[in-house]
Amino acid sequence: MTQIALVTGTSSGMGMHAAVELARRGLQVVATMRDTARADRLHEAAADAGVTVDIRALDVVDHAAAARLVDEITADHGRIDVLVNNAGRGSVATAELLTMGQIQAQLDVNYLAPVNLTKLVLPGMRERGHGSILTVTSVGGTVGQPFADAYCGAKFAVEGFMQSLAATAEHFGVHVRVIEPAAVSSDFVANVERPGDAGAYQPLLDAYVSRTAGAFANAQSPQDAGAAIADAALSDESRFRWQTSEAASRFAGVSLADLDGTRVSAFTRPWTATV
Ligand SMILES: NC(=O)c1ccc[n+]([C@@H]2O[C@H](COP(=O)([O-])OP(=O)(O)OC[C@H]3O[C@@H](n4cnc5c(N)ncnc54)[C@H](OP(=O)(O)O)[C@@H]3O)[C@@H](O)[C@H]2O)c1
Repeated sequence: MTQIALVTGTSSGMGMHAAVELARRGLQVVATMRDTARADRLHEAAADAGVTVDIRALDVVDHAAAARLVDEITADHGRIDVLVNNAGRGSVATAELLTMGQIQAQLDVNYLAPVNLTKLVLPGMRERGHGSILTVTSVGGTVGQPFADAYCGAKFAVEGFMQSLAATAEHFGVHVRVIEPAAVSSDFVANVERPGDAGAYQPLLDAYVSRTAGAFANAQSPQDAGAAIADAALSDESRFRWQTSEAASRFAGVSLADLDGTRVSAFTRPWTATV
């Protein structure tokens, strides 16, 4: 039976390539974006790969719209087997430069939106006894970085939610996972929210921006990251944590002794053993 995948944030970057890659691997892909008038690049990438995707509108921070979309996909395609929570946005600012509104916006897109979509697809996956929920987090979900206070806070939050859920969901055949890219040459940097005048922080910000430009000079391609996302989303392995590249594994390894999440799952799995 053809699997049905829902991918968010597919107007550009690794979400767009993950959508095409999943379609290339035989899935029926519902590729969502805020503004479907911006689907040109996805159409072109799909045509180049010789696949078709079902493009629909979704602003992931609109929880009611997400619920309607999940109902529509279920009516049209029968179910959702794979959810890729990819939509996300960065913010370059330290605490004093951030308003609470900007911090909330980071939580809305990088934390609450994946949580909401996960809650929407989980009942069907649990009832059918299989499913895959993959959230694109970041090495910034494991390593807090200067001028990424709100972004890393939100990515840490979503990793905590998903790792907690993973242990329970696996009892029902549902794989819950995260995948952590390092620098990827997508539209991410262009789309990042930045402060105007950084005041006393300006020299530190300048140093940080210059260091980051170096990291992005060797960035992974979004095609490559998209393929890694498809690998993780379709894997049968009971593995929570993935990275999109060797560089991402080295980066995440600065904080983590448990790079693939198996130590934590071996520790927590017995807590819900029923026999
Ligand atoms: N690039 C990196 O270096 C990097 C590293 C680690 C993690 N990540 C994560 O990777 C994921 C994909 O980012 P990318 O690198 O591919 O960057 P990108 O090219 O900027 O893609 C991000 C996508 O998310 C979408 N998006 C943003 N806010 C949205 C919303 N409210 N509703 C629906 N879609 C929304 C954007 O759509 P619009 O066109 O409508 O804005 C865009 O399609 C993000 O979660 C990001 O945090 C990126």
